[in-house]
Amino acid sequence: MAVKTAVFPVAGLGTRFLPATKAIPKEMLPVVDTPLIQYAVEEALEAGIENLVFVTGRGKTAIEDHFDVSYELEATLRSRAETETLEMLNEIRLRPGQAAYVRQMEPLGLGHAVWCARHLIGDEPFAVLLADDLLHPTGDALKAMITEHEATGANIILVQEVDPVHTDRYGIITPGESTETATEVVGIVEKPSTAEAPSNLGVIGRYILNPSIMDRLASTRPGSIGEIQLTDGIATALGTELVSAVTNPGVRFDCGTTIGLIEATLSIALERDDISTDVRALVKRLG
Ligand code: G1P
Repeated sequence: MAVKTAVFPVAGLGTRFLPATKAIPKEMLPVVDTPLIQYAVEEALEAGIENLVFVTGRGKTAIEDHFDVSYELEATLRSRAETETLEMLNEIRLRPGQAAYVRQMEPLGLGHAVWCARHLIGDEPFAVLLADDLLHPTGDALKAMITEHEATGANIILVQEVDPVHTDRYGIITPGESTETATEVVGIVEKPSTAEAPSNLGVIGRYILNPSIMDRLASTRPGSIGEIQLTDGIATALGTELVSAVTNPGVRFDCGTTIGLIEATLSIALERDDISTDVRALVKRLG
């Protein structure tokens, strides 16, 4: 079945980026001049997603405003005839009814956040995108995942090799047999220690899930760090439903960490025609 809806869990507190995230959502932190959440939304739209569900929380209204009309700003730009900027703002704006916002009232974990979207998902497969994993180039991974899902009906997880020292930062899979396009997932565990990790294939924040995950999440007990983990919900599907991993075909920046955000900013800035020459000179001078 076609994947038309994406869920963006954006209720996290972003404590790693304090004080920057005291009054703004971490998903609004910019990489060059574009907030993280916008990269994720563009990625979803590029992969053919039509409906967007944001699982928000208190203090996250800037995300809703970002994808809405900004009358004062647009009127000012119009009076100054800044057509290009107006067009750019127009492109960001979502179509009426395209986005829905639901609140996760307590920080009970990623699995709980996804479950909060259940009424908006209904009986269709859906994508989940974690905005602090910034993928570059944007659309390729999700497109490959959707193609794999449509061909097999499997739940699909995006993975890539991670430093074995850092397995405790990721969901880690036990790989089974592989085809040309995907690997069967026979086990999955949230944030194992290096010694306990079944492999070094870490889950990157992109998933295509069948709607049955919602019932699984409803009965998933708190796991790692006392939260209801999406990984644990997926683990209960193993053996009953097909779960497959697609390998990330591009680069992933971990924008959940300061150094990852800086790496993403520099890498993307160095590819931007308008600023790359200046940025290269700057890096050379500072380095
Ligand atoms: C979440 C997931 C984890 C996954 C990671 C990818 O963890 O729980 O399985 O590997 O995203 O970024 P978080 O980074 O929110 O702690």
